[in-house]
Amino acid sequence: MIFVTGGAGFIGANFVLDWLVENDEPVVNIDKLTYAGNLESLASLQGDKRHIFVQGDIGDADLITRLLEKYQPRAVINFAAESHVDRSIHGPEAFVQTNVVGTFHLLEAVRAYWNELEGDSKADFRLLHVSTDEVYGSLAKDDPAFSETSRYEPNSPYSASKAASDHLVRSYHHTYGLPVLTTNCSNNYGPYHFPEKLIPLIIVNALAGKSLPIYGDGQQIRDWLYVKDHCSAIRRVLAAGTTGETYNIGGWNEKPNIDIVNTVCALLDELRPRTDNQSYTGQITFVTDRLGHDRRYAIDARKIERELGWKPAETFATGIRKTVQWYLDNHEWTANVQSGAYRDWMETNYQN
Ligand code: NAD
Ligand code: TYD
Repeated sequence: MIFVTGGAGFIGANFVLDWLVENDEPVVNIDKLTYAGNLESLASLQGDKRHIFVQGDIGDADLITRLLEKYQPRAVINFAAESHVDRSIHGPEAFVQTNVVGTFHLLEAVRAYWNELEGDSKADFRLLHVSTDEVYGSLAKDDPAFSETSRYEPNSPYSASKAASDHLVRSYHHTYGLPVLTTNCSNNYGPYHFPEKLIPLIIVNALAGKSLPIYGDGQQIRDWLYVKDHCSAIRRVLAAGTTGETYNIGGWNEKPNIDIVNTVCALLDELRPRTDNQSYTGQITFVTDRLGHDRRYAIDARKIERELGWKPAETFATGIRKTVQWYLDNHEWTANVQSGAYRDWMETNYQN
């Protein structure tokens, strides 16, 4: 039995789906179902006894304590977070609440549970905290990529709150000996991605005939990783990582935003041409830049390859084609997100 928090979000849902394909070990999925939580992403697990969904907050230590005692998991993987930089600029408080205070309460509940474990259960227990490359701040064009020893220099309320959570996790290992692992990953893309983030937003807006907003000059660089590769990396770190260590996860795939948008447009031109046969690139609009916009992120993922033998299976070309095709094939999922109908999914469809 493992616990996954935030398993109705983009990466968490992909993780739960892949986990139950890879093995039969049940998952207790604890998610608050904020606007970013979408049980429709887990629709294929309806009736699957290996998936136990609990609507709840990682900051609710009593709930987490009760669940830990009831299910006795061997591991907890913490995906739960507020994750969107733009939202953190407009309303940072929820980021501090969930990412900092919530993680703190989760750590306290897990520490108390772990303290009571004995023998192999205690020795084998793991808490894996899922974090981001954004904690390292922004790189200049020729700077080396972020390694596990790069200094934390978070620039947005989102990255600052994630940095704070990473520090708390680290301190629980150093101070109490809690067996923790931390992963810092670059930008993910793939199925079930909420269309407020760049890639799904571009796909959805393009198909709806809307403008494709590019912040500033579009030359900001991100490293992009297909979400299923992130999930396989997490499984690998959980299985073989050394507790107390952090692992950077990346796709070796740095690209400026404008290139990403042009690639998505070219794929849509091929797979779902506009009725007027013009390119979707005609919908690109340069808009006011994000406040404090980080210029470049890049991940040095050599440690996880060297020590744990992990590297991404997808290239950007294969991953982005699968992603665009997924959005074309799953119009209903996107339509329900846009109409808000996904928020009724629990009441109407979910019987867990
Ligand atoms: P997401 O916003 O899609 O999903 C977050 C999930 O957490 C949602 O289902 C939401 O309902 C849930 N949640 C929020 N607050 C909660 C709370 N207090 N208690 C319980 N559940 C709560 O995010 P994502 O993109 O899937 O990211 C998952 C994790 O991975 C985050 O910790 C994020 O910082 C990290 N990460 C994301 C990326 C990326 O590119 N998306 C890259 C690196 C790391
Ligand atoms: P985003 O997907 O929000 O991820 P993050 O900010 O965590 O990297 O944004 C990715 C990049 O795309 C980032 O540099 C901001 C930019 N961006 C746009 O240019 N236009 C948009 O509409 C969005 C949402 C993002």
